[in-house]
Amino acid sequence: MKFFIDTANLEQIHKAQSLGILDGVTTNPSLMAKEGVKGLDNIYDHYKAICNIVDGPVSAEVFANDLDGMIKEGEILHALDPKKITIKLPCTEDGIKAVKYFSEKGYATNCTLVFTVGQALLAAKAGATFVSPFIGRLDDIGSDGIALLKQIVDMYNYYEFDTQVLAASVRHSRHILRCIEVGADIATCPLNTILDLVNHPLTQKGVEIFNKDADKMR
Ligand code: E4P
Repeated sequence: MKFFIDTANLEQIHKAQSLGILDGVTTNPSLMAKEGVKGLDNIYDHYKAICNIVDGPVSAEVFANDLDGMIKEGEILHALDPKKITIKLPCTEDGIKAVKYFSEKGYATNCTLVFTVGQALLAAKAGATFVSPFIGRLDDIGSDGIALLKQIVDMYNYYEFDTQVLAASVRHSRHILRCIEVGADIATCPLNTILDLVNHPLTQKGVEIFNKDADKMR
């Protein structure tokens, strides 16, 4: 399973990249706003800075809600780094039309804010490169995010869609383990959630014991 980092914070992206396990980045307008990026030129420069750090897809979300606006913004985003930028589009009627438009041009797309199998089907039929079911936000409302993830993975396998399932709104390491179990292609997570996978008290304890024994032999 691939790992994307879900942030627009350059320091965190650098840190994840330095681990050597980073496959890509996802951002959204809320994550960009959190970094205090203001003005279109600065926003575009920020995406370019992210692309310069990571060797993989970088999801950049459109701000527009209508098809014409999405197409205009998507073209600008794509041109920032045609090999790395993935145009992130919401799973709305206009968003699906925009996914179709860009997929026919051969541009990478990420159909986001997906909460049902039906939405995932439409995203795949429109030719999305990635589909982003929001696991944590479904759990937040008492629904089962991982169950939805599994249904989408099974449906894509059954119909042999090429669209990759990108588990989003991943909140903790248990979510990641469940993503692996159900066969998600990618999980996008905050840095802390990725680091939680590394740390285990028995690993730490084992290192301390080995250090003591190594000292005896020096
Ligand atoms: C990723 O593409 C999403 O924008 C992100 O995972 C949303 O996560 P949240 O529900 O924690 O805001």
